[in-house]
Amino acid sequence: ASSTEVDISSIEPGQAIKAVFRKQPLFVKRLTPAEIEAANATATGSLRDPQSLADRTKEGHEDILVTMGVCTHLGCVPLGAAEGEVKGEFGGYFCPCHGSHYDTAGRIRKGPAPTNLEVPEYEFTSDTVIQVG
Ligand code: FES
Repeated sequence: ASSTEVDISSIEPGQAIKAVFRKQPLFVKRLTPAEIEAANATATGSLRDPQSLADRTKEGHEDILVTMGVCTHLGCVPLGAAEGEVKGEFGGYFCPCHGSHYDTAGRIRKGPAPTNLEVPEYEFTSDTVIQVG
């Protein structure tokens, strides 16, 4: 099958897990209230790839951020999912290959990556399970 199910019930606020979707890393993160606030406090128009947190999450589940774990520069796997302490300058993910910093909504904020981390197609099949793809 080309879709992937991820049980999100055990993801703690502030924690991200790595899964695999179509042979590529997938990050699923449960944002803390502070991380949501930080994302919403950023003026969308000021961003390189203008998207709000709401644009990148599902209504009623704004605390669950689902992105590919693939830097949009040259495809390295950013740090900050399994390596909880390495979040870069904007509190989200950090790609060490050439220094791209992603914020708490997975949006590119500094460094060479041209676009935000990709949000794949997915849906909630229950409050605790998402189906990606
Ligand atoms: Fe991530 Fe270049 S591949 S910064």
